[in-house]
Amino acid sequence: MAKKRVLSGMRPTGKLHIGHYVGALENWIKLQNEYESYHLVADYHVLTTDLDTSEIYQNTIDMIIDWLACGLEPEKAPFFRQSQVKEHSELYLIFNMLMTKARLERNPTLKEQIRDLNMDNITIGYLSYPILQAADILLYKGNAVPVGEDQVPHVEITREVARKFNNVFGDVFPEPEPLLTRFSRLPGLDGDSKMSKSLNNTILLSDSPDNVWQKLKKAVTDTQKVRRNDPGRPDVCLVFTYHKKFNPNEVENIEKGCKSGELGCVDCKKMCNDKINEFLAPLLEKRIKYENDIDLVKNILAEGETKARVIASTTMAEVREKMKLG
Ligand code: TRP
Repeated sequence: MAKKRVLSGMRPTGKLHIGHYVGALENWIKLQNEYESYHLVADYHVLTTDLDTSEIYQNTIDMIIDWLACGLEPEKAPFFRQSQVKEHSELYLIFNMLMTKARLERNPTLKEQIRDLNMDNITIGYLSYPILQAADILLYKGNAVPVGEDQVPHVEITREVARKFNNVFGDVFPEPEPLLTRFSRLPGLDGDSKMSKSLNNTILLSDSPDNVWQKLKKAVTDTQKVRRNDPGRPDVCLVFTYHKKFNPNEVENIEKGCKSGELGCVDCKKMCNDKINEFLAPLLEKRIKYENDIDLVKNILAEGETKARVIASTTMAEVREKMKLG
């Protein structure tokens, strides 16, 4: 039986952080061996909230180098930009005819963003963000999409679009399943919220050991643990969450030491620092090759885009035939 297809995507917003690794990339790397995988750079999606395109290209290159450093293998699972495969726009146009405005306004992810960012006037492009995402996924007939909680409503809309198209014009598309990332939110260094570039609370996948320590040193811990020997509460401490992820073997001891007051925050952070840097070391080594040879990165994209276009144009031909266009 043919392998099922997975379509994974990310918006190019610049250098990635360890939250991206934990929440997405780790899963993508595993999936590339189990499925026929495709990795999309959602550059058009950036335009839904930001018309300043001056950094998109550099952000794309930085993101791709992070993907490569983590171990995504483009020979196995092609990388490509949405903007360079024109069928994304074509299928998006058709899908826009299948969804009502009311349905898109009920999208909980959209409502949350409008509230958080205080937006009172959104563009049509932003409203139909999930339709473009549906085109991304269905163009490759994706059977599954790895996502965090916040993206589940978009996969649900994708399923509805597929169903609607199939009902009206005949079967073309599968209804993709969301593959939920278990560990989807890594807290940021401020301890208040998830790790996020805009909040400036990240450890980057490209940070040097010294950078990591400078950042970790200042990280917020249990605010009720004031003196070294005060008992701490690991369950409210972001450093402890990092230990759970990057230092699973010592978690039990750290929990005991923190709770009893024997382990101070500085020592605990040093242990965490060692483990995070141990994790990052091979990435730092791997990225050198690409940073010194950007043409290599450009070629990877060009090859991925050639492969993507073959599949995308085949699907579009099928769509047009079903729709009796042409
Ligand atoms: N909306 C996704 C995000 O912000 C990015 C994305 C665009 C995507 N197209 C996709 C994810 C297709 C999966 C499949 O995370």
